[in-house]
Amino acid sequence: MTTFLEEHRRTHMCGELDESNIGEEVTLMGWVSKRRDLGRMIFIDLRDRTGITQLRFDPYGDDEDTDLEERAGELRPEWCIGIVGQVVSRGANINPDMATGAIEVVPTKLEVFSRAETPPFVIRDETDAKEELRLEHRYLDLRRKPLQQALLTRSKVNALTRNYLLDTGFAEFETPVLNRSTPEGARDYLVPSRIHPSKFYALPQSPQIFKQLLMISGFDRYFQIVKCFRDEDLRADRQPEFTQIDMEMSFVTPEDVIEICEGLIATIFEGVHGIDVQPPFERLSYDESMARFGVDNPDLRFDLEITDVSEIVAESDFRVFSGTVSRGDVVRGLCIPEGNQLSRKEVDELEESVKVYGAKGLAWSEVQEEDWKGPIANFISADEKKAIEEAMGASPGDIVAFIADSTDVVCPALGNLRDVLAKRFDLIDESEYRFCWITDFPMFEEEDGQLHSMHHPFTSPRPEDVELLDESPLEARAQAYDLVLNGHEIGGGSIRIHRQDVQARIFELLGLSEGEARDKFGFLLDALQYGTPPHGGIAFGMDRLVMILTGADSIRQVIAFPKTTQASDLMAKAPSRIDEEQLRELSLRLDVDEDAVEE
Ligand code: AMO
Ligand code: AMP
Repeated sequence: MTTFLEEHRRTHMCGELDESNIGEEVTLMGWVSKRRDLGRMIFIDLRDRTGITQLRFDPYGDDEDTDLEERAGELRPEWCIGIVGQVVSRGANINPDMATGAIEVVPTKLEVFSRAETPPFVIRDETDAKEELRLEHRYLDLRRKPLQQALLTRSKVNALTRNYLLDTGFAEFETPVLNRSTPEGARDYLVPSRIHPSKFYALPQSPQIFKQLLMISGFDRYFQIVKCFRDEDLRADRQPEFTQIDMEMSFVTPEDVIEICEGLIATIFEGVHGIDVQPPFERLSYDESMARFGVDNPDLRFDLEITDVSEIVAESDFRVFSGTVSRGDVVRGLCIPEGNQLSRKEVDELEESVKVYGAKGLAWSEVQEEDWKGPIANFISADEKKAIEEAMGASPGDIVAFIADSTDVVCPALGNLRDVLAKRFDLIDESEYRFCWITDFPMFEEEDGQLHSMHHPFTSPRPEDVELLDESPLEARAQAYDLVLNGHEIGGGSIRIHRQDVQARIFELLGLSEGEARDKFGFLLDALQYGTPPHGGIAFGMDRLVMILTGADSIRQVIAFPKTTQASDLMAKAPSRIDEEQLRELSLRLDVDEDAVEE
């Protein structure tokens, strides 16, 4: 017996048919999206990844199959079927909202490949089913059009990236997944070794060291679309495993890297949305970004810039302000245009939002024609008010709000307040893409007296700042750059250190003894001795880029099988316990409180 598939090749996808196909015999395969019975007429929406075609089972048709209508009447949502049929016009019943709305197919043959249980949630574009339920049955959630489109866009971004980079002289190489640890600032995922009891591999937080070694080997331009693993606190734009578009180039300046990246981004946006993002992109130094926006990933789609009023209030009678300035800290604030629309309760909520960042309060007042009105109005002199209004461009009806504290508190608190206000006043044009490069990052940040790399330890200082490494390392600037899009860091990179002595010095500043540096990075320090080309690169967060391209609000929506914010896979139930035998083989014994372990 020949099967349906042996007899019939699919001729079209479900989203493809239009008036030009009228009269043709077609073979379609797909899933039943909907069934409607109108008298003896049965309508089926047949769905595949390209769209939907309406089938009309007609009792008066000239069928090859005998009991066709009877079997059509049994069809239920999500059954997987194949049909052969005639494309006909819908006549007066055209549906202009549907790509295939001018036609329908009258089947003459029906094959049911698989029946389906009633799905745990209805498969449709808009869903109110709980995310946990959908993640548990991700293969069904992925039948929904928004997710299908997001993943197909992702595939397109992959292809555009590969083509662009191959055309630009890059070669694609794979780097190991079972590694020694590479420092990118997060915790490692570890894999125990069976063959070497008590030893562990680390999964790569990035291929950083390997791509530098490929430059030392002379490959000149490398790229890889690569999974990276980081055990860190998860958020909407962070997953424990995520994908980078990872690149490295020899004999380049930051300008060269930036130019290649702008070409890549322009190619992707042109290819996906047909829009010209018009590089070169805006640039901001780290210091400027922190001063004006409070963060190093500013959303430039709206203004609401931060103003420093420390000088104006240095001698103020308001001790909260003058006392802060005399301690060497700052008073900075935002002018909220037409802030008088905010209720008292909303202003209190704004104050709560800054306290999350450690601010002691939000000192605010409404600017009115005659005077200010609000908690700090009585403490600020008329001259100070005038100077502040001028500095902030405030006019009657606006609210001016300030935080007095160290920059470590003021910057992130006001940076977040900008975002909160942009949402409240609907200041964001969702169709806009605003890029900017952040440059001149500090080499280091300090925590409890210990220096940490702001980017990673292989980042080169600016040539003119090498001298600062000995005297005042916190002032040294790095040759590092991040690309920010609509408030998300979508990529980060740097020119690398290509001199062994400088690299050794950086490890020392980071508190690694010579022995530790040799133990962890000996192979890199050795390699740097054999004619290292000057080199640099960058890595883009593929998931974040696709999230923004598709208008998704979490990277979970653009990853086929994502993890929850608890780093779990609800479908496969990972992570999972392993049996005693496996533990024994790996020479591991668990030391956990059994009561605390979830089943
Ligand atoms: P960095 O650590 O800045 O640089 O990472 C590069 C980009 O990867 C994305 N990203 C993430 N995306 C999703 N989930 C995560 N947990 C996550 N962590 C990072 C971000 C980020 O900009 N080796 C260097 C690159 C280089 O110097 O060339 C690196 O990994 O979009
Ligand atoms: P107080 O005199 O402490 O009651 O504060 C008066 C106002 O200033 C209140 O609205 C507080 O929220 C606010 N405030 C107190 N400390 C700070 C600070 N460090 N920065 C900004 N506002 C503050």
